[in-house]
Amino acid sequence: MRRKGNEFTFLLVLTSLLIIITFSNAMNVIDTTDVITDGQTLISSDGSFELGFFNPGNSKNRYVGIWYKKITAFTVVWVANRDNPLTNTSGTVLKVIQPGILALLNGSNAVVWSSNTSLRIAQNPVAQLLDSGNLVVKEANDENPDKYLWQSFDYPTDTLLPGMKLGRNFVTGHETHMTAWKSSEDPGTGDYTYHVDPTGYPQAVLRRGSVELYRTGPWNGVGYSGLPGLKNNSIYTFELVFDTNEAFYHYALRNKAVLSRFLLNQSGVTQRWSWVDRTQGWVLYLIAPVDDCDSYRQCGAYGSCNVGNSPKCGCLRKFIPRVTEEWEAADWSNGCVRKTALDCKTTVSSYTQTSNCQIQIIHGLMQV
Ligand SMILES: *[C@@H]1O[C@H](CO)[C@@H](O)[C@H](O)[C@H]1NC(C)=O
Ligand SMILES: *[C@@H]1O[C@H](CO)[C@@H](O)[C@H](O)[C@H]1NC(C)=O
Ligand SMILES: *[C@@H]1O[C@H](CO)[C@@H](O)[C@H](O)[C@H]1NC(C)=O
Ligand SMILES: *[C@@H]1O[C@H](CO)[C@@H](O)[C@H](O)[C@H]1NC(C)=O
Ligand SMILES: *[C@@H]1O[C@H](CO)[C@@H](O)[C@H](O)[C@H]1NC(C)=O
Repeated sequence: MRRKGNEFTFLLVLTSLLIIITFSNAMNVIDTTDVITDGQTLISSDGSFELGFFNPGNSKNRYVGIWYKKITAFTVVWVANRDNPLTNTSGTVLKVIQPGILALLNGSNAVVWSSNTSLRIAQNPVAQLLDSGNLVVKEANDENPDKYLWQSFDYPTDTLLPGMKLGRNFVTGHETHMTAWKSSEDPGTGDYTYHVDPTGYPQAVLRRGSVELYRTGPWNGVGYSGLPGLKNNSIYTFELVFDTNEAFYHYALRNKAVLSRFLLNQSGVTQRWSWVDRTQGWVLYLIAPVDDCDSYRQCGAYGSCNVGNSPKCGCLRKFIPRVTEEWEAADWSNGCVRKTALDCKTTVSSYTQTSNCQIQIIHGLMQV
C-alpha cells in the first residue's frame, strides 16, 4: 500500500514537472535572434491563441496563420501569406528583422510575406502574439498599443475578433475591412469584402468586387437601421464609434470564456458564431444578409421584394415591369415603370408649368 502511494506521488510529481516544462516551452514572443519554423508555434500567454503553419482543408499548400488554441475545432482567424502559399516549407522561417519587420522567408531566403514597413523603427524589435489574438511587432518592453510598429488587427482576413476595429482612421487614412477566403481550401483574397462606409451616418457595406450587394443601413445610435437581428444580447456588446478621428465598428465579449467571432464567409454572408462548450462546436448566432430580399437592388427601381412570394419580386402598386420578357425570365434588374406615365412633358413650357409638374410628380409618388 505504502509503495503504491509513493509511486502515485512520483507519477504526480513527474506529470506536474512535464506540464511545467511544456508550459514554459510555449513562447509568445520572438526577437531578432529567434525563428519559427514549420512545426513550431507561438502561443499567447493565456493560451487562447496559437500561431504556426497549417494546411487549409485538404490543400497541400502551407500557410502561416493564427487559430484558437483552447477549443477542439481547428478555427483559423488570421492568415499571413494568404496570397503566397508555400509548397515546401523546408528551410522556411518566420523571423523578426531589423528595424522591425516580421518576415516569412522561404528556403532560399526569398520573402514570401512580410509585415508592412513602418515609419517607426525599434532598437530591439520583437513579435508577440497577444491574448486577444493580435500579432504585434513592437519595441521589446513597450506595451503601448499606440507605439506598435505593426499589428495583424490592422489587416484582418475574413474574421473580426473582439478588439479589432472595422472602419477608417481619418488621421492615418488606414482602412480596415474584411475579405473572404476564396474557398475553404484557399485563404487567398476572395471577391467578397465587408467595409464600414463612414460617409453620412456610417453603415456596413458588403461587396463582390466593386458591386454593392448589401448595406446594413445607417447606424442609428443603437444598431444598424436595416439589421434588426443585431441587438443587445448576453454574449457580446457592440458599438459604432464615430468622431473626427475615426469611424469604426467593434465588439467585445461579455464573458471571455464564452467565445464569439464575426466572419465574412466564402459565399459573401456575414456570420456571427458562438462557441458552445457542451457540444464542442460553433453555433450560428446571426447572419446577414438574411435572405435574398436583403440584397441591394434585388428587384430594381420601383420593385418590391418579398421572400414569401414566388417570384419574390413584384412591382409597386400602379407600376409594371419595365421589360416584361426579362421580368418573366427572373431578371428583375431593370425594375418597374409607371403603368400610366405622368403627364409632364406635354405641359412643360414655362417656369410655372415646370413647378406644376413637380407638384404632380410628388403627388404621383404619394399615391404609390
Ligand atoms: C523541399 O525542399 C528541400 C530543400 O530544397 C528538398 O530537399 C526536398 O526534397 C523538398 N521536398 C519536396 C516534397 O519537394
Ligand atoms: C523561394 O521563392 C523564390 C521567389 O518566389 C523562388 O524563386 C525560390 O525557388 C523559392 N525557394 C524555395 C526553396 O522554395
Ligand atoms: C504599406 O503601408 C502603406 C501606408 O499605409 C501603403 O500605402 C502601402 O501600400 C503598404 N504596402 C504594402 C506592401 O502593404
Ligand atoms: C443587455 O443585455 C444584458 C445581458 O443580456 C443585460 O444585462 C442588460 O441589462 C441589457 N441592456 C439593455 C440596455 O437592455
Ligand atoms: C455562408 O453562410 C450562409 C448562411 O449561413 C450559408 O448558407 C452558406 O453555406 C455559407 N457558405 C459557406 C461557403 O460556408
